[in-house]
Amino acid sequence: MSDLDELEKQALAELNSSSDETGLRAWHSKYFGKHGAIPAAVKKVSEVPPAERRAYGQEANRIKEGLIKAYEERQQKQSETQLARELQSDALDVTLPGRPIRRGRLHVATQDMRRITAIFADMGFQVYRSREVEDDLTNFELLNMPPHHPARDMWDTFHTTTGGVLLRTHTSPGQIHVMRECCPKPIRVILPAITTRSEIMFQQVEGLAVGRNVSMTDLKGTITAFARRMFGNDRRVRIRSSYFPFTEPSIEVDMDCLVCAGKGCSLCKGTGWLEIMGAGMVHPVVLKNGGYDPSRFSGFAFGMGVQRISMLLYGIDDIRYFWANDLRFLNQF
Ligand code: DAH
Repeated sequence: MSDLDELEKQALAELNSSSDETGLRAWHSKYFGKHGAIPAAVKKVSEVPPAERRAYGQEANRIKEGLIKAYEERQQKQSETQLARELQSDALDVTLPGRPIRRGRLHVATQDMRRITAIFADMGFQVYRSREVEDDLTNFELLNMPPHHPARDMWDTFHTTTGGVLLRTHTSPGQIHVMRECCPKPIRVILPAITTRSEIMFQQVEGLAVGRNVSMTDLKGTITAFARRMFGNDRRVRIRSSYFPFTEPSIEVDMDCLVCAGKGCSLCKGTGWLEIMGAGMVHPVVLKNGGYDPSRFSGFAFGMGVQRISMLLYGIDDIRYFWANDLRFLNQF
């Protein structure tokens, strides 16, 4: 019995002096492990003379239960102090406002492309997509530019190593694809797309309307409506004679300057006018290449640079900003 009391005293003293988790664990395995002192003491009951056995057993059990309880309390306290220590050393101010989540947005090129297509969609134009890798035939020849035609120099063509295969230099070859697909039905489409020159890539929106009695008046009305929706209701539009192999007659479309409204400033280089697109009446050869009989059908077409439109809208002075992926630029839109 006195051994038991001694064991209890020693175990409690050691328990109270163990101050961390490792100490507690070591204590537990010393007293309650497989070869621990407590199970050993309990087992000893068989060596005790029968008369004292009952008392011994009760005392051993009392000590065992007491130590288990003391151990659990100690463990509880230990984890509380541990938590308190961590909370203090790793203080977190829960009243601080959270970090704002940064919102993504569409690239300015995508935004303006969508605005442009939406305006034409309202006028009944359907969107038609055509291939980015073109053949020489469709990019040039069927648009009335046979091989060695000097007008091909208007585009710094990006040729591939496969003969006759190139990256489309403009969206106009899409006209051939639509016409061949739709002929002999009337057409009213726009063709938004990436176009490539040997040193730059940019987006264009091509427009094409083919039908009976489609006229230059329709072209001018369509473009004027577009310019007003895109740049403001009081915009004025003028057309100048020009040359493109695939239109006859060909025109260049100007809009009165956004900054000076025609008086002359640095944006319009003193002219009062800003060039916004090329256009014209579809050349009979092109109509025929698309499958339409030019004596019964006529059409108008136009082509504009999307980045040029954005540059005019926002006063951007270098087209390279669009693809530089500089967030200081992109965040402004
Ligand atoms: N394809 C021309 C270019 O890239 C733009 C153009 C001019 C398109 C006149 C047309 C047009 O449809 O009629 O410079």
